Amino acid sequence: MGYIGKRSAQPIILGALKRLEYRGYDSCGFAVLSNGKIEVFKERGSIDELEKALSGVNVGGTVGVGHTRWATHGEPSRRNAHPHTDCKGDIAVVHNGIIENFQHLRETLAAEGHVFRSDTDTEVVAHLVERYYNGNLEEAVRRALHEVKGSYALAILHKADEKIVAARSRSPLVLGVGDSEFFVASDVPALLEHTNRVVHLEDGDLVIITREGFRIENGGNVVPRKMETVLWSIEDAERGGYEHFMLKEIHETPRVIENTLATHLRDGVLGGVDLDLDVPQSSEILMVACGTSFHAALVGKYVIEELASVPVRVELASEFNYATTPLSRETLVVGITQSGETADTLSALKRAKAAGCATLAITNVLGSSVTRLADRIIYTRAGPEICVAATKTFTAQLITLYLLALHFSSIELAERQKMLKELRRLPTAVQRVLDAEDEIKEVSGRITSYENVFFIGRGISFPVALEGALKLKEISYIHAEGYAAGELKHGPFALLTEETPVVAVVAPDRTYDIMLNNIKEVKARKPPVIAVADEHDEEIEKYVDFVIRTSHVEPIFSAITNSVALQLLAYYAAKERGCEIDKPRNLAKSVTVE
Ligand code: F6R
Repeated sequence: MGYIGKRSAQPIILGALKRLEYRGYDSCGFAVLSNGKIEVFKERGSIDELEKALSGVNVGGTVGVGHTRWATHGEPSRRNAHPHTDCKGDIAVVHNGIIENFQHLRETLAAEGHVFRSDTDTEVVAHLVERYYNGNLEEAVRRALHEVKGSYALAILHKADEKIVAARSRSPLVLGVGDSEFFVASDVPALLEHTNRVVHLEDGDLVIITREGFRIENGGNVVPRKMETVLWSIEDAERGGYEHFMLKEIHETPRVIENTLATHLRDGVLGGVDLDLDVPQSSEILMVACGTSFHAALVGKYVIEELASVPVRVELASEFNYATTPLSRETLVVGITQSGETADTLSALKRAKAAGCATLAITNVLGSSVTRLADRIIYTRAGPEICVAATKTFTAQLITLYLLALHFSSIELAERQKMLKELRRLPTAVQRVLDAEDEIKEVSGRITSYENVFFIGRGISFPVALEGALKLKEISYIHAEGYAAGELKHGPFALLTEETPVVAVVAPDRTYDIMLNNIKEVKARKPPVIAVADEHDEEIEKYVDFVIRTSHVEPIFSAITNSVALQLLAYYAAKERGCEIDKPRNLAKSVTVE
């Protein structure tokens, strides 16, 4: 968030940051230009705590930037909170996004004598601007950004200039236009209290904002951008115009995949994947998790066994904690938990540690309890998830597990490169699933009036079916069961009637023909059958009543595209049934009791 105008910047910035609290954060801070000096205040924790620390003092100044941080590089702490400054404290930077080449930049700048005071990727920007500053802030920012790879929404101050320079690349940034005052923020709700006239900046845009006006450049040329009037309420704006956080978060999936890949893929690293992990000497991997994360683990088992030929066992953390299964010290135990706080998963990792096993956690929340427990951590980069039902974080877990499988794998270079190329194509493939959401919405109408739905799949599509059923039941309250397609005839067939729709997840892999047989067996019992199938599958229509088409990807990655389709199916079914969606009854986002 940034402000420049005639009013005092501090209360405007803090008020705006409060409007962004729904995004989740663990620390916050702001900087103002006051009497020719940059004054920085930051705190771990909430904006209320920062205000308490200021004990009613307004530091003055009518230009400033502020930030709420959700930690991605470096633990949540005061020193890692933004704004970050250069060596002399003349420049203040706030940033959303990930500077992918920060390690290299940091080493180069440190060798030139720059002293770093945080663990963040952001701090390199302050030092880069310092390196190039020669009396002209925008010129220094331009040159600095030339060296930066990654995603960013940046707002930058210099003590000698009554201006804000802001820039955008693959992270949202919006300019708010008031009367002789301007705002810049990551999201519209931050501005709405002051103005509804906004300019959505585009990738590559650099904007120079003074009290007199603003100038937007892209690639060195001044560019015109449309001013729009926002008609949303603040609540609508928090959800980015989407009716629910769940839908917003599903739509964030392509960006989440990009961010997770950007964090863990590196040029020049053996095999492209950089997880800073030894390839296990272990004879076995054991994964422990709950709920949706358990389903991610089941997909992970399939992928790791396929690509790395290491046997993988998956256990529900709640069961594992009371099991007497012997644990070998040679087992690598992987805990998967998006929140990092699930009590059962934490206990399972403790049990593994006590048995002398190496432990690894995959989590989305930096500084969460699991990060203090496991020997190694891999972060998913999904950003905060507000809807209770996990969607984008599940996809980020899957991406991480594909990377882990590739990291452990010794497949040939050409095959590995093909897989990496496919992974990089996934954001586009998922976007195409999202673009076809109207069709999914229509199909969802075929299940909303029923009380029981089965989801079936084989191989990698079995856990996808389990997850599809979980998503549907938790938000629409339709009873749904996920089943291995071959298992239906061992009992559940007794329940199949015209009143029991079956959703079949069909991947074009070695299970395809047998899956068609299973669908035929189901059809003979008269239930309506919906298939989720590859767009190139020409057979499937003959076997089922409705088809949800998903973008063609290598079959091993169909878990991603098909899961996103099933998330949308659950969402639209729940919406049609008038359910609450973001906060389903009886459920909590973090389950901190066993
Ligand atoms: C379902 C869901 C839950 C969580 C489970 C584990 O949509 O969100 O099933 O997956 O409570 O949570 P984490 O991953 O935080 O350990």
